[in-house]
Amino acid sequence: MKVTVVGAGNVGATCADVLAHREIANEVVLVDIKPGFAEGKALDIFQSSPINLYDTRTIGVTDDYSRTAGSEVVVITSGLPRKPGMSRDDLIATNAGIVKSVTENVIKHSPDAKIIVVSNPLDVMTYCAYLTAKVDSRRVFGMAGILDTARYRAFIADALNCSPKDIQAVLMGGHGDTMVPLPRYTTVGGIPVTELIDTETLTSIVNRTKSGGGEIVNLLGTSAWYAPGAAAAQMVEAVVRDQKRIFPCCVWLNGEYGLKDIYLGVPVKLGINGVEEIIELKLNADEMTLLNNSAKAVKEVMNVLDTMNTVQA
Ligand code: LAC
Repeated sequence: MKVTVVGAGNVGATCADVLAHREIANEVVLVDIKPGFAEGKALDIFQSSPINLYDTRTIGVTDDYSRTAGSEVVVITSGLPRKPGMSRDDLIATNAGIVKSVTENVIKHSPDAKIIVVSNPLDVMTYCAYLTAKVDSRRVFGMAGILDTARYRAFIADALNCSPKDIQAVLMGGHGDTMVPLPRYTTVGGIPVTELIDTETLTSIVNRTKSGGGEIVNLLGTSAWYAPGAAAAQMVEAVVRDQKRIFPCCVWLNGEYGLKDIYLGVPVKLGINGVEEIIELKLNADEMTLLNNSAKAVKEVMNVLDTMNTVQA
């Protein structure tokens, strides 16, 4: 089982490391355009295998997609990360060209692959990969919800001084300030979070989650990688092991939640076929308003991509 990760930067290398460390694939190919970069990262990861005791072979290549041929899953992390003061949407012009050319190469050598997009602006880059790949939308989806819910869950665990393992949550919408964490669907060891945390604290956790990526950008001067890399690896695992796990992912909507022709975060079932089911929750009016606002914001950036003519539908 081969998995490719395109982009050997912080997110891509972390994802490859988690895939290897947890033996999610027996071969992980890391690709980058910077000469020697992917080779170096892959070699470093491989050299940790006798210490960390795993069999996965990591291989790095410079822009040589022939080495990625026959991948079951390809994770696309290529593109520029944010700098302080930038929104994810500011990256569209540069990253759309990169994601398009990467997707063309990926699909040429792995026509049956499932493609997981991590590049920002996430929802629109997933759309860009979908338009380029010209495959069933269930095979092209984006990583955002797992990361955003992980932040939300971590903050809740912190507030309650309990294990993050016991926090379950759903979060919907775009990967940006309009994302919609759903306290009504958040539990702590099976107990509704609303019974354990007061509304004011919960609201501040929701707000911190929405700007969770920006908080890291301000601290580091670039965007996060440990949680994004681990989140992407978790999606790969759900697919290659056909786990049928339920995660919020960025997927193509075709009327679900009353939304159509848009890539947006919603809960789905992930298995060997990619997105095997879109789960429709009965949102209340307030939640639906927030989701519609988020859809509107994502659609505006999708329209920017459409007018750029980077990819033809
Ligand atoms: C973040 C970036 C990866 O949210 O979008 O940290």
